[in-house]
Amino acid sequence: MNTDHVIRTFVEYFEDRGHRRITGSTLLPPTGDPVLFTTSGMHPLTPYLEGRPHPLGRRLVNVQRCLRTTDLEEIGDSTHLTVFEMLGTWSLGDYEGPLSLDWGYGLLTDGFGIDPGLLHATVFGGDDRIGPDTASSELWQERGVPVELTVEDNWWDNGPTGPCGPDSEIFIWTGATPPESTPTGDDRWVEVWNHVMMRHRRLDDGSLVPLPQRNVDTGLGLERLAAVLQGRTSVFDCDLFDPWRRLVPALWELDEPSLRLVCDHLRSAMVVIGDGVRPANTGRGYVLRRLVRRVLTVLWRDDPSRGLGDLPDELILHTLDHFRQEMDTDDVRRSLIEEERRFSRLLERGRQVLARPRFRGPLDDEDFHYLHDTHGLPRDLVLSLRPE
Ligand code: ALA
Repeated sequence: MNTDHVIRTFVEYFEDRGHRRITGSTLLPPTGDPVLFTTSGMHPLTPYLEGRPHPLGRRLVNVQRCLRTTDLEEIGDSTHLTVFEMLGTWSLGDYEGPLSLDWGYGLLTDGFGIDPGLLHATVFGGDDRIGPDTASSELWQERGVPVELTVEDNWWDNGPTGPCGPDSEIFIWTGATPPESTPTGDDRWVEVWNHVMMRHRRLDDGSLVPLPQRNVDTGLGLERLAAVLQGRTSVFDCDLFDPWRRLVPALWELDEPSLRLVCDHLRSAMVVIGDGVRPANTGRGYVLRRLVRRVLTVLWRDDPSRGLGDLPDELILHTLDHFRQEMDTDDVRRSLIEEERRFSRLLERGRQVLARPRFRGPLDDEDFHYLHDTHGLPRDLVLSLRPE
């Protein structure tokens, strides 16, 4: 089942249960939002979770692209991507958590054909403010799905303030041997679907107040589910990465972790550019800059003659097409190449400056400040340019 088929199956299943499809937003949250990028499907729906009536009603379904930089250091493992898609459903003050979990169970087992014996759930076990989520535990018990109770891991929020609540996460066993242990005890349990009982709002002083309505907010990781359904052990082996797996190794010889990083970051950079961001020293542009420069650092480690101008058009087209972005492939390529030139010039300048006698010995904080403020050389870059 390819990813398009997964998306269709998901959306139709929830449409059959009274949900209206909304169009996913770009990666850029609305003006005034303190967060740089959309990190979750619920993000653009915050006002409706807080009580504003949604024009399409109280049951919604969508596919939302998301970007998470908190996971940047984990890129290269089997489950994390910088840009990924979240299949989401919402009950805006309509049905409650157990029905959402039951539908989730039905879709995974009947709809996608996953063996129920490979599922495990986690549920909020309660803390000193909010009691345990017994309704979710009971639902899982009725369905014969084992449950692990946790506290912090089963509380979801989108930032220090705003809508939040206890959640129940569904994991699928991806090991080659029969399932063992629990989700927190064995990472062969891969989280695919989070159901948040979004009933609270956290205020500036940290206190919790009830939201005007009891919502359910769910998010299913598309690439993770697709990898499982396609019998693959890593998101980098699902069909979305087929052209990357075919074209990138033919261009550059890379070990597997480097290949994953290069594919993830380039693909993410293309989507971010496709949503209108350009490299810069602050904000969103800085995230983009870091993505491109991390790719170049990996590529140039083995061969400084490698360049982004060699990227096949097919990769840019495939990415823009998948994310339904209108931008011209040449504009995306130009943006990548301009950043490559800037980085190359900066490295050249860095090498010249660091060759000066003043910087031969160990560097102190004052040196790092001077290199940054006067020559635009960030600490990371200086460290990477210094001989071992
Ligand atoms: N908003 C929840 C999440 O992102 C569903 O995990």
